Amino acid sequence: MINLFQPSVGDDELAAIKDVFSSSWLGPGDRVEQFEQAFGDYIGRPPSEVLAVSSCTEGLFQTVVALGLGPGDEVILPSISFIGAAHAVRSSGARVVLCDVDPATLNPTVEHVERAITRATRAALIIHYGGAPGALVELSVLAETRSLLLIEDAALALGSFVSERACGTFGDVGVWSFDSMKVLTTGDGGMVWCKSDATADRVRSSVRLGVGSSGFGRRTASSRWWEMDPPTIGRKGTMNDVAAAMGLVQLERLPGFLRRRSEISTRYDEALVDLPWVRPSKYNPGEAARMFYWVQTAPELRDRLAAHLLERQIYTSFRYWPLHKTRMYRSNEAFPGADHAAESTLLLPLHQGLSDSDIERVLDAIRGFAP
Ligand SMILES: Cc1ncc(COP(=O)(O)O)c(C=O)c1O
Repeated sequence: MINLFQPSVGDDELAAIKDVFSSSWLGPGDRVEQFEQAFGDYIGRPPSEVLAVSSCTEGLFQTVVALGLGPGDEVILPSISFIGAAHAVRSSGARVVLCDVDPATLNPTVEHVERAITRATRAALIIHYGGAPGALVELSVLAETRSLLLIEDAALALGSFVSERACGTFGDVGVWSFDSMKVLTTGDGGMVWCKSDATADRVRSSVRLGVGSSGFGRRTASSRWWEMDPPTIGRKGTMNDVAAAMGLVQLERLPGFLRRRSEISTRYDEALVDLPWVRPSKYNPGEAARMFYWVQTAPELRDRLAAHLLERQIYTSFRYWPLHKTRMYRSNEAFPGADHAAESTLLLPLHQGLSDSDIERVLDAIRGFAP
C-alpha cells in the first residue's frame, strides 16, 4: 500500500526516547523546554512566546478562551477547515460563521472573509491549505484595520514562510500540529505561539489546570507545592518529555523532509502536465512547505480516480469536508468555491518516505486511468 501520509521515525528518535526513559522523568521537563526553544528559533520567535501542548486541537481550544472569545462573539472560519477548529470556537460559546474559499487554492481570499464580517465579529480563524499561505498577509492587514483577532491554525504550515516570516506568526495566535500524519511528528503534540505575553501566560496556566507552572511538574519555587489552589479553571494540555525528545530530533530532520516533499511535488507536476483531464495544484515553492499535493478533475471523475488508485493499493483522500455540509455547522448560505473544491479535489500520496519508484507507480496508475 502506498500511504497518503506517513511518519518518518527511526533510530535517532528511538535513541532520544531511550534517554528520556533513563532519566526517570517522562512528564513535562527539560526536553519540553528545549523543544520550545528550538521551535522558537525555527519560527524566529523567543521561547517566552512559544508553548508546547498535547495537540493542536487542544491548543486551539485553549487559545480561543485565552483570547477572551465567548458568548456573543462571532468567529469567521473558511468552510474548508479542520472540524476541531470549529469545535474549539463553538465550545467557547462563540458563534462559528463560515466563509467561502477560492476553489483553486482552497484558501479564503480577503473578500471572502470581509463579506462575513458583522458587528459581532471578533476574530478570524484560518488555515493554510496544504501549507500554502494564501492571502495571509492581506488577511493580517484586514484583521488589524477591522480590529479583529487573527488565529492561525498552522497545522499544515510548518516550514512555510512569507518574506522570511513563519506562517503561524502573522496574527495573534498560531497553533501547529505534530500528530502522526504531519511532516514533523511527536505521535501527538502541538505548539502554540502567542503574540501577547498576557495570552501566552493565560495559556501556560490553563494547560496546567489553571495552576500555572508552580505547583505543577517536578520543579517549584513554592515551599508548600502541594497546595494546589488555581484562580481559574484549566485543562490538562501539556506536552511530555517523550514527545518533546522525538520533536527535537524531527525538527533537525525537517529541512530534509521538506526538500524531499518538494522534489516529489516537482516530479508530480512535471508528469501530470501532460494529462489534459487533471489540474495539478499551484504552489509558490519559495514560500510554501508542501503538506499536501492535490489535483483537481471534473467532479464526475474524482471519485472514480480515487477508486481506481485504491484498487492499485494507492491511498488518496480529500481534506477537509466543508463545514457547511456537516450537521454541526450546517449553513443555508451558498459556498460555491468550497462545494466545487470538495467535489473536484483529490490529495495524492505525499510524504518524505516515498521512493522514486513509489512515485512512478502512482503516476503510472494515474496515466492508466481512462477518463
Ligand atoms: C488543519 C488542521 N488543524 C488542526 C489539526 C489538529 O491537529 P491535532 O491532531 O494535533 O490535534 C489537524 C489535524 O489533522 C489539521 O489537519
